[in-house]
Amino acid sequence: MIVRSRIVGCGSYLPSRLVTNDDLTKIVDTSDEWIVERSGIRQRHLAAEGETTSDLATAAALQALERAGIKGSDVDLIVLGTATPDHTFPATATKVQARIGMTGGAAFDVQAVCSGFIYALAIADNFIRTGQAKTAVVIGAETFSRILDWSDRTSCVLFGDGAGAVVLRAGEGEGTSRDRGILSTHLHSDGRHHDLLLVDGGPSSTQTVGHIRMAGREVFRHAIANLSSVVGEALAANGLGAADIDWVVPHQANQRILEGTAKKLGLSMERMVGTLDRHANTSAASVPLALAEAVGDGRIKEGQLVLLEAMGGGFTWGAGLVRM
Ligand code: UT7
Repeated sequence: MIVRSRIVGCGSYLPSRLVTNDDLTKIVDTSDEWIVERSGIRQRHLAAEGETTSDLATAAALQALERAGIKGSDVDLIVLGTATPDHTFPATATKVQARIGMTGGAAFDVQAVCSGFIYALAIADNFIRTGQAKTAVVIGAETFSRILDWSDRTSCVLFGDGAGAVVLRAGEGEGTSRDRGILSTHLHSDGRHHDLLLVDGGPSSTQTVGHIRMAGREVFRHAIANLSSVVGEALAANGLGAADIDWVVPHQANQRILEGTAKKLGLSMERMVGTLDRHANTSAASVPLALAEAVGDGRIKEGQLVLLEAMGGGFTWGAGLVRM
């Protein structure tokens, strides 16, 4: 028998303020038609004044814990993927730790931008499989509205705020792809593309918070190739094929990236969970938000094979295969 990390609860939180594409036409020279056609986005949720990443993360974590029937005091690890922490330090995860009533174990942030949740999940899975943690909360939470340049139409229309979380618990498996739990995770980065998607500020470089700068077309070009490659790697590692996947829960950056990846892998769009139209790109939050939605409405069922994948600044990209 081997140790497997099981997903025993999912949670999410979206700020109540809704901003439509039409609302954005009052701020920048854009149109609902352009945004829908080029990205698939129709609206996004934005955090209220004073609402922080830790507020969103805590709400998602508490919902995931409640659904798992686990108390915060029983958690021994929090890994939080975010590129928009409350403060430069300490980690936003430590704020969440205090607010869920967890007094032991360890809580820290992971910085892999849009791949943040996949990175956080891989780290927590490795902690559980080596016996260093038993019950982990893995969170993706962002307030990208705080780092958008609201005068740059090429980026400000694409992002939203939100948070998603899962509770992982150590379980047992036989070491086959029929086991319930995380079957494998696969992470990559390539720092040569650092400047194609970045925030042009930071404590050590400019002593400012900075704004998102993205070479959209270049990022787009790499996204489909990198995502298809890491999905192929995840399937091969488990002796599985695309036909075995019940659901893909992809990072939600662009509808055309979802379609391009599905086509390259020979997957039907009906098996891709999509939230892009309603949430926009919520960076590290998009995968756990979509997962919580599809588990919550009964699409994703126990025993099904779910593929999680994401790509973001760095570049970073990764995938995880999970039997629910
Ligand atoms: O989550 C992390 C990963 N991020 C991504 O994966 C994002 C990847 N990239 C993309 O999703 C797409 O490249 C975008 C949605 C960002 C842009 O779509 P595109 O089809 O690559 O458009 P483009 O950047 O080539 O721009 C086409 C035209 C330009 O005008 P010209 O130069 O052809 O006259 C832009 O100025 O569209 C113009 N444009 C806009 N027009 C109206 C750019 N933004 C807007 C806008 N409204 N908001």
